[in-house]
Amino acid sequence: ERSGQKQPVHPTKSDNSVDIFPPTVGLVPTMGALHAGHLSLIEQARQNNDLVVVSIFVNPLQFGPNEDFQHYPRSLDHDRLLCQQAGVDAIFAPTAAELYGQKKFGIQEWDVTPSLSAFSYAPHLTAESVSQVIPPAAMTTELCGRFRPGHFAGVATVVTKLLTIVQPDRAYFGQKDAQQLAILKRVVADLNLPVEVIGCPTVREMDGLAMSSRNQYLSVAERQQATVLYRGLKQAEQLFYQGKRLREDLIDAVKTELMTAPEVRLQYVDLVHPDTMMPLEQVEDCGLLAMAAFVGSTRLIDNLVLRDR
Ligand code: PAJ
Repeated sequence: ERSGQKQPVHPTKSDNSVDIFPPTVGLVPTMGALHAGHLSLIEQARQNNDLVVVSIFVNPLQFGPNEDFQHYPRSLDHDRLLCQQAGVDAIFAPTAAELYGQKKFGIQEWDVTPSLSAFSYAPHLTAESVSQVIPPAAMTTELCGRFRPGHFAGVATVVTKLLTIVQPDRAYFGQKDAQQLAILKRVVADLNLPVEVIGCPTVREMDGLAMSSRNQYLSVAERQQATVLYRGLKQAEQLFYQGKRLREDLIDAVKTELMTAPEVRLQYVDLVHPDTMMPLEQVEDCGLLAMAAFVGSTRLIDNLVLRDR
């Protein structure tokens, strides 16, 4: 029990018997290197639930062979401190060998002092060697899915495992990863998983750069250049509010702004429906304008949902 924490309700009925409602649990899945974006999810989870669990696991299954799995920032001690300050009740930080092995997890694994071996790599783990949750192809072939084959199956698989182990009432994900959020909502609905998926707004730095664990890869000069992603999206948003609805106009606005930062290499910018990821020729009710770009060797993503005010 923690001070300031909402306690479960134990109402007394008229016949003097007592219903014991189990505490509600909110899960915030993360890969660690926690920042204010993660903390906003934790705060939302604290407001809606009696108990908050944060999982910290750098999931090898969602990284491509040439991606940054080995170099992904790991700072478990600092993460633990941030979680304690944020009023998190338990951290779940399994090793890859534990999570992808046949281990049965019990309450003793919900430890606020997990061992540092939590980040050991399971080199035998491949997409071919483990059962996976496969999201609808129509949702994984657009946007990031085009450039990260297997990524969203890896995400859907690990999140399904975390939901099965922790059994939360609600799970919290950021709009920063809009395609991930939409896919996980679909997976939970399609597989009838008994959890509510809650999307939370993107938290940004003062200059608009979306917070990300990967921002720490950026040099000072690159960090400066990286602000162009959000500027590009805001340019398109301004056109949208002026009545421009066509895919081409909105995408061109982003591209034009990106030309002001020649060191930033656009990977894609696209306009899709925020729930289905279907490409849109124009925005009807709402549209997701999403992009990925390399700043130096760091790949950053950002997005805005365009809808009438
Ligand atoms: P990670 O990148 O650590 O992000 C964990 C959660 O924090 C995700 O839901 C992500 O969308 C959210 N988040 C990250 N930056 C944010 C920001 N600036 N504002 C708001 N929310 C933000 O996403 C993952 O980990 C993994 O794919 C995971 C879901 C844990 C599965 O391995």
